[in-house]
Amino acid sequence: MLKVDKLNQYYGESHTLWDLDLEVPRGECTCVMGRNGVGKTTLLKCVMGEVSVSNGSILFADDVELTKRRIEDRSRLGIGYVPQGRQIFPLLTVEENLRTGLAARADGKRTIPKRIFELFPVLEEMRHRRGGDLSGGQQQQLAIGRALVIEPRLLILDEPGEGIQPNIVTQIGEVIRKLIREDGLTVLLVEQKLPFARKYADRFVIMDRGRGVAKGSIGELSDDLIKQHLTV
Ligand SMILES: Nc1ncnc2c1ncn2[C@@H]1O[C@H](COP(=O)(O)OP(=O)(O)O)[C@@H](O)[C@H]1O
Ligand SMILES: [Mg+2]
Repeated sequence: MLKVDKLNQYYGESHTLWDLDLEVPRGECTCVMGRNGVGKTTLLKCVMGEVSVSNGSILFADDVELTKRRIEDRSRLGIGYVPQGRQIFPLLTVEENLRTGLAARADGKRTIPKRIFELFPVLEEMRHRRGGDLSGGQQQQLAIGRALVIEPRLLILDEPGEGIQPNIVTQIGEVIRKLIREDGLTVLLVEQKLPFARKYADRFVIMDRGRGVAKGSIGELSDDLIKQHLTV
């Protein structure tokens, strides 16, 4: 679904991503792991077109070169993005937050798919509450809901479990598996929480100082790799 090839990225003079490769197979959850500051969010921002790429290729759905596309093409092509820190609109209601996602739909449909409320009943209950009045976990569910209103083919999540109560982290993990199983979605996840990755991801990629250093099926994520690249 997504294939990143020899990607290089700079913030000014600072070389952040080095010849990075990443493959995200269809119908699976691929988890990018790595310590703080290794470039995980930067990689996702390159995919989303929010930072410019120096060189390398990002191929979506076999034949779309994303580095040559405009930012807004991502959602039209079917890529949903849940940024780190959620970034919902605190003064808008839950429903209004969800509606902001609709503008990016390729088909012009302007109703919130019922599926969102099936997956996250709390969003229906809280439909008229302001985003800022929700708990951190509910805001994360809202951010995921907003990314899903375009009914994407690829869902990208940046540390969805960060700073959230454990029961909602579990709910989010279950929703990810449900979306893969029932909706045929492909998921690219950044997550530092090891138990979460082990439980909900199919594959892992480890980054260290801007480079890809290990990858495999999640069962191959060894204690050695964890010690070398993930523990502080
Ligand atoms: N907008 C920016 N300008 C300059 N440097 C940045 C910017 N955003 C991130 N960085 C730097 O790039 C590196 C990678 O950051 P980031 O991709 O956020 O890492 P991660 O998500 O793995 O924690 C870090 O050293 C960070 O300080
Ligand atoms: Mg990050």
